[in-house]
Amino acid sequence: MLRRALLAASASTRVRELTTTMPVTRDVVTRFVAGDTADQALEVVERLLGDGLLATIDYLGEYTTDRDQAAAVADEYIRLLGRLGAVGLSPGGRAEVSVKPTAVGLGLPDHGEKTALENIVRIAVAARNAGTTVTLDMEDHTLVDATLRLVAELRADFPDLGCVIQSYLRRSPADCQALATAGSRVRLCKGAYQAPDDVALSARHDVDRSYARCMRMLLEGSGYPMLATHDPRLIELAGVKATMAGREHSEFEYQLLYGMRPAEQRRLVARGARVRVYVPYGSDWYGYLVRRLAERPANLAFFLRALIPMGR
Ligand code: FDA
Repeated sequence: MLRRALLAASASTRVRELTTTMPVTRDVVTRFVAGDTADQALEVVERLLGDGLLATIDYLGEYTTDRDQAAAVADEYIRLLGRLGAVGLSPGGRAEVSVKPTAVGLGLPDHGEKTALENIVRIAVAARNAGTTVTLDMEDHTLVDATLRLVAELRADFPDLGCVIQSYLRRSPADCQALATAGSRVRLCKGAYQAPDDVALSARHDVDRSYARCMRMLLEGSGYPMLATHDPRLIELAGVKATMAGREHSEFEYQLLYGMRPAEQRRLVARGARVRVYVPYGSDWYGYLVRRLAERPANLAFFLRALIPMGR
């Protein structure tokens, strides 16, 4: 209920203006976002890699309505990948990048899919030159078919391109089954966007049950599962199911968001697991922050606590 209300309110221009201009917001943002610049992202990534973690870097921005802006986002990723390669953070896929298809043009009214494809190809070439990979994030449910079409087309030339499945979508077990094939890298998450009941499960336990089912399919398949969740029960279950499926630590990974459960990230690494942290950077953090506040009351409480001194 709260989640739906927050996600709906976030679409208001007035709410956006208020949130992004409040000075106190900055403290909350820095908890979840590496910084505004690539320099700050690189600093964070270097620290994470030094602690034995892996990273995937997201240049914040989404729902681009302008072709030049979409190209500029791709250019930023290409520069970032060049720098990652130059300082030795990306070889072997230790640091990779995550790209939102709408940030590189998927939502453009004319030729959106073609524009996104061209921009992602440019990013994927830069990633290959830097010795690493690209994962395409999944956005709202209306974009799933187009995103999976992009993945299928791109994987012909870039077989290590990763994609994301959201367990809250009713279609996802079928998508997981289709994607659990050799060489395919699939991130499984619960799903962070609003979706109608005929498309998505709404009860938390149904979403969790679907996550467990999709996770089992991916672990028992022949691809490379990337299990993205902070949920302690699902993390535990992942370890058990991976062992039952005969997978070594090197044959799947856990993924968590920057700023979320850092002690758990390190605990998993200490157990020998591969753990990748999703590191967002950039000044367009509003949509990302709202989704983090909406999915967890404790994150929202943290935000509200930061507001209280202003009222005194
Ligand atoms: P959920 O939020 O349901 O929490 C379950 C339980 O976990 C909580 O009850 C609590 O016990 C524990 N928990 C959660 N956060 C905690 C914290 N900070 N501290 C302590 N305990 C905590 N979504 C999407 O739609 N498209 C995408 O491409 C991606 N990509 C992505 C990448 C990565 C690496 C991650 C981790 C997540 C995404 N997501 C995403 C977001 C995802 O869909 C989802 O919204 C969030 O991960 C929240 O769901 P959880 O699985 O973490 O559990």
